[in-house]
Amino acid sequence: LNNGLGLTPPMGWSSWNHFACNIDEKVIRETADALVSTGLDKLGYQYVNIDDCWAEPQRDDQGNFAAKNSTFPSGIKALADYVHSKGLKLGIYSDAGYYTCSKKMPGSLGHEEQDAKTFAAWGIDSLKYDNCNHDGTRPTVRYPIMTRAIMNAGRPIYFNLCEWGDLHPALWGGKLGNSWRNTNDITDTWESMISRADQNEVYADYARPGGWNDPDMLEVGNGGMTKDEYIVHFSIWAISKAPLIIGCDVRSVTKDTMEILTNKEVIAVDQDELGVQGKKVRMEGDLEIWAGPLSGYRVAVVLLNRGPQKSEITANWDDIGIPPNSVAEARDLWEHKTLETRFVGNLTATVNSHACKMYVLKPIA
Ligand code: DGJ
Repeated sequence: LNNGLGLTPPMGWSSWNHFACNIDEKVIRETADALVSTGLDKLGYQYVNIDDCWAEPQRDDQGNFAAKNSTFPSGIKALADYVHSKGLKLGIYSDAGYYTCSKKMPGSLGHEEQDAKTFAAWGIDSLKYDNCNHDGTRPTVRYPIMTRAIMNAGRPIYFNLCEWGDLHPALWGGKLGNSWRNTNDITDTWESMISRADQNEVYADYARPGGWNDPDMLEVGNGGMTKDEYIVHFSIWAISKAPLIIGCDVRSVTKDTMEILTNKEVIAVDQDELGVQGKKVRMEGDLEIWAGPLSGYRVAVVLLNRGPQKSEITANWDDIGIPPNSVAEARDLWEHKTLETRFVGNLTATVNSHACKMYVLKPIA
């Protein structure tokens, strides 16, 4: 969407994966505090996104959204002011239907202009727009109404379409939003994570600055995967130019989780100015090579082992888009080391089960 937002994939946090409907203004405020005290904000994690369940089940007398009094007594405007005072941005959630997926609050269908104005008046910076409980019309009928409404609301608002991939949103989402979900909800397991990566990958060609494929939010730190599996999760999201939306409780984040979420070199792949989504360029059974171009003629590569045993994986220059006889320097993004060996034609590494290696290759001759 040409609203000047999302020129690189958005980074931040959302309440859904960890808290679902158990949210209140205290959690949101403390999360904003934690993003700052951990330094995650400085690495680019800017959006604090409130997901479903923040509003009263009924609109007020004027038909306006009302923040849920028992959990958000100070209101959303006060929360936005607080989040902004920390140098962060506040995101909110609604639905292109009569009520949201939780059925605990109204959706925006029929109230698009009014709601967009409310969000703008509150100081909202991002809107996730879900697709539950609607009138049966296609999302391509209901979503554009909100796109127009937010573009006329007088405040830049990042627009995230949450249609789950049923009607191939990559094919039409670029005109309507800054990112679009290609998948059903992620859960905190290897199978769920890796299948979302696959479903998202096929649409790689549709991603570009201002419009990104969204394989869903991060589960890193929620406890259901091993450290290596979370490293795969973060690496594949980054090479896929996915939104990096943290989904754990950042108020009590472990050292291992921080090590993953704060990997600047991996974040830099996600945020690279070229904005070209990486793809699976070769599959050999459980062994996969993912690659994508970066600015400065560099190439990002993930060697992914989905299988049960340790294996060697080779990235061929032919497959990853480096001229055949080029000599390349390899930076290992998880070891934080530039390898001493110079590589010609290919690079081979041994990769553990359910793990990956991630490199940036730079042709030097
Ligand atoms: C479905 C979405 O896909 C989830 O990310 C989350 O927003 C829930 N709805 C909330 O009900």
